[in-house]
Amino acid sequence: MTPDAAPPAPVLSDGIVSLRPLGEHDVPDITLTAQDPLVARWTTIPTPYAQADAEAFVAERGGGAGPLPTWAITVLPDHRYGGTVDLRPDGSGGAEIGYMLAPWARGAGHAARALRLACAWGFSALRLEVVTWLAYAGNDASLKAARRAGFQVPEHIFRGYAVQRGERRDCWVGTMTPDDLMAAARQTEGRREFLGPDLTRRELDVLRQLARGASNRAIATELGISENTVKNHVRGILEKLQASSRSQAVVSALRLGLVSLPT
Ligand SMILES: CC(C)(COP(=O)(O)OP(=O)(O)OC[C@H]1O[C@@H](n2cnc3c(N)ncnc32)[C@H](O)[C@@H]1OP(=O)(O)O)[C@@H](O)C(=O)NCCC(=O)NCCS
Repeated sequence: MTPDAAPPAPVLSDGIVSLRPLGEHDVPDITLTAQDPLVARWTTIPTPYAQADAEAFVAERGGGAGPLPTWAITVLPDHRYGGTVDLRPDGSGGAEIGYMLAPWARGAGHAARALRLACAWGFSALRLEVVTWLAYAGNDASLKAARRAGFQVPEHIFRGYAVQRGERRDCWVGTMTPDDLMAAARQTEGRREFLGPDLTRRELDVLRQLARGASNRAIATELGISENTVKNHVRGILEKLQASSRSQAVVSALRLGLVSLPT
């Protein structure tokens, strides 16, 4: 898929963090975020940054269309703009990911959730084979978020790998494949630090059965519970994944790396 053939970036959510297209109403918050010293230090964002820069950014990237899928990161309870994440496809099955969180959205692991949502969408909708990540060496918060999301990042420092405002910077470089994302999702699930919609353990069991195409009766037999209980779990799953059918729930769950298709 070539970059200019990218489908519109849709709304994505894991129940805690949501990604939605940027809009003009985000301009004041984007401006505040881009003026934050940490953002200036660790990204290529222009400095000084004025409201006109945010307006130009939204004009170019807003609305979810365009070759570089770009989202506002929003967080419960008020869905206020809390950051930006984007994918920059290379047209050959790869894309680089970029992100920043607003100061008011930091410190709760939201970056890792946003990275997973964007990568999962890239793997399914853009058929990406790999997403690459880079940060200037020393950006520990970003490294932690990336590794938590599933990026494989070796300790190696790549000398002068990237340019920031005309100056070469040492970098950490990592990659994520669909398998890495699945493995990370499974690992956090195992640690009961599940990074996804707030599904119960039982709902996850039922969701896995749904991915296998099992009927309510078959699920009830497999899990040793009544068909009525299965129905209740399916209702809960649909609600939490904001899905209107079982198959839509399975598609969402696949995107989020919650389940895999039987081989
Ligand atoms: C990188 C960024 C998106 C991470 O946001 P976040 O998800 O809120 O990250 P957190 O603040 O939860 O930090 C993530 C982890 O790093 C740790 N961390 C934060 N700052 C750290 C530091 N200076 N040194 C070591 N660890 C640090 C946190 O304790 C947390 O770990 P924990 O969850 O185990 O406690 C955010 O800091 C940011 O927007 N930075 C400026 C822009 C930027 O760097 N963008 C990325 C460019 S590659």
